[in-house]
Parts: sequence; C-alpha cells; structure tokens
Amino acid sequence: MPKKQDKNRVVSSKESAEEVAFEKNLRPKKLNEYIGQNKVKDNLNIFLQAAKKRGEPIEHVLIHGCPGLGKTTLAHIIANEMGSNIKITSGPAIEKTGDLAAILTNLEKGDILFIDEIHRLNKTIEEVLYPAMEDYSLDIIIGKGPSARTLRLDLPKFTLIGATTRISLISAPLRDRFGASYKLDFYEDEDIQKIINRSAKILDIEIDSDASKLIAERARRTPRVANRLLKRVRDFAQVKADGDVTGNLALDALKLLEIDELGLDEVDRKILMAIIEKFSGGPVGLNTLAAATNEEMDTLEDIYEPFLMQLGFLQRTPRGRTATKRAFEHLGLKPILDKEQNSLL
Ligand SMILES: Nc1ncnc2c1ncn2[C@@H]1O[C@H](COP(=O)(O)OP(=O)(O)OP(=O)(O)O)[C@@H](O)[C@H]1O
Ligand SMILES: [Mg+2]
Repeated sequence: MPKKQDKNRVVSSKESAEEVAFEKNLRPKKLNEYIGQNKVKDNLNIFLQAAKKRGEPIEHVLIHGCPGLGKTTLAHIIANEMGSNIKITSGPAIEKTGDLAAILTNLEKGDILFIDEIHRLNKTIEEVLYPAMEDYSLDIIIGKGPSARTLRLDLPKFTLIGATTRISLISAPLRDRFGASYKLDFYEDEDIQKIINRSAKILDIEIDSDASKLIAERARRTPRVANRLLKRVRDFAQVKADGDVTGNLALDALKLLEIDELGLDEVDRKILMAIIEKFSGGPVGLNTLAAATNEEMDTLEDIYEPFLMQLGFLQRTPRGRTATKRAFEHLGLKPILDKEQNSLL
C-alpha cells in the first residue's frame, strides 16, 4: 500500500522545495537571534570567541538532536559568526571516496564543511575522513595492483560540522575526532512561543498572545513544527476570517488539523492505538509496529517515538515498545492491568 506523503504532515522531517525557501527566510542568522537552547548557546559562544581571539578556524563540531530542533540553523549560524564560507553536503550524498576527496580538495583555509545526516556516511568514506579531520591530509591511492601507490595530499585547515539525529549510530573513532559536541533538546513552550512570534513578524502575520501560546503548546516543543502550524493556522485565518490570528481561530484551525492539546496528530494516535489494541499495550518490536501502522521504521524511530517518549506515553524496552498508563489515559482508555507490564507500574 502506498504510504501517505510524508512531507504534507505537520510533523514530518522531510522538506518540500517550497518549505526550503520558507525555512530559509525564518532561519535566525546570528547566535543572539537563536531562541532557547541557552546551555548550547553559552558554550558555543565561548568556543567561537576563543577561536576568533586566536585567529584560528574552530575545531570540528558535532550537533545532534531530533529533527527540526535547529541543527542546520546552528551550523549556518556558526559559519556566519566566524565569517566563513560553508559548503553543504550530506552522508547519503557522498557515494564514493572520490566524491569526498573532490569536496575536501576544493576547500579553502577556514571553510566550513557541513555534513548533514553524518551517521549515514558509509564506512570506507568515513575512513577517508579520519586523517582529513585529524591531520588535514588526504591519502589517495593511485593505480591498481602491485604498482599502486599512496599519495598524501595536504588539505587546508577547515572545520567539519556534522549533524545527526542518531548519535548512537556515530562510530567511536568518528565521534572522538570532534572537538565539540552539542546536543539540542526539545524546547520550552515559552521559547517556542517566542519563535512563533518572531516568525509571525517576518511573515507579516497578526497574531495575538492567546494564539501564539496555544500553537506553542501543540508544537511538540519543536521549532519546525511550530513554524508549520503557524503557516497552516494563517491559511485558515485568511480563508475563515480577515487573516488575523486569534486564540479562538487557532483553536478551530488546530481542531481541523486534528492536533490535540498535547500536540499529538493522527499518526501518534495510530501508533499508540496499534500498541494498545493490536498488541495489548506491548511490548511490540519496531518492525512489527511499523508493519501494523504502515509507517517506515525510520519515521517511527526518528520522528514519532522521541516525542511520545518525552511525554511519557511510550517506552522502549529490550523486548520492544510499550504504551504507558498515561497513554491509555490520554486516549480515554482503561489500562490493561492484568498483564505483567512494567510500563503500567
Ligand atoms: N533556536 C531557534 N530559534 C528560532 N528558530 C529556530 C530555532 N531552531 C530552529 N528554528 C527554525 O526551525 C526550522 C527548522 O530548523 P532546522 O532546519 O535547523 O532543523 P534541523 O535540526 O536541521 O532538522 P533536520 O534534522 O530535519 O535536518 C528553521 O527553519 C528555523 O526557522
Ligand atoms: Mg537539518
């Protein structure tokens, strides 16, 4: 059965072309415009200032966190703050070691190379990165068989910024080669509200504080979701009213989008209902759950599960996923108590 197009979802991690342009407009350019994540900002600020004072490029940086929390934004901010050029690529885009060699040899001193989804680099390519990151050198093999020889090329002192949603998939040797690692957490609702107000200003949307608060509470503590919801609510306001976004109007729009008061959408509810109804609350393996919900495993693992776990609705156990008592309650169901289930304790 074909899967529903991911990019139309409010919670999806995929970006449409239109959205790429839209996100670019909304992306803060400077560290002091980046809302929330104070711990990361404070540390990063010192890290950047110190490198600037020494007049050196910064060490390699790893940024990790769930989709839409601001990794790409932060990478651009770092480049901006350092006054560096940024070249952008991603793990899956680098297919051959030659692709990486071409990218690396085209860098100039102080350039930033941003590798998104760095956990998806293949092993042989990753190995080319090790000496490049550590000694700024590139080993190239020329020729084949007995006459093959290795040529060592010097690279300019560049900075690698890697971003990943899956820190656990980054191998230890790669992780060790980053001088700094920053973890982005889910945002506080107040910070999400500030992001909504900032975006509304940029997009010229009149929004009252009841509306921005309501949207913030349902935005899964994620800036990208907040911006998407704002856009959908704006559309609703333009069709149903004069375009101004009030609390009542936002409430109606979110109802129409089937986003509940905790920010769960139909897919979250489908996942929880599947665990509860088809597997008596779990545990159920990720594979089986993906088949039962007709969702991809990656989508479940990257996008839906982190937020459901954050809400305390879902647990990952060694035997699989379980729905918690809170999940049953949220869905208005009675927990199954006659089962040996640690999640219901
Ligand atoms: N701290 C922030 N302050 C204001 N806006 C933010 C912040 N973080 C993210 N955003 C907004 O959220 C959008 C999504 O952020 P971004 O693309 O950087 O996420 P990401 O972590 O790279 O996601 P993915 O894992 O899917 O690549 C950006 O366009 C930006 O407008
Ligand atoms: Mg990104």
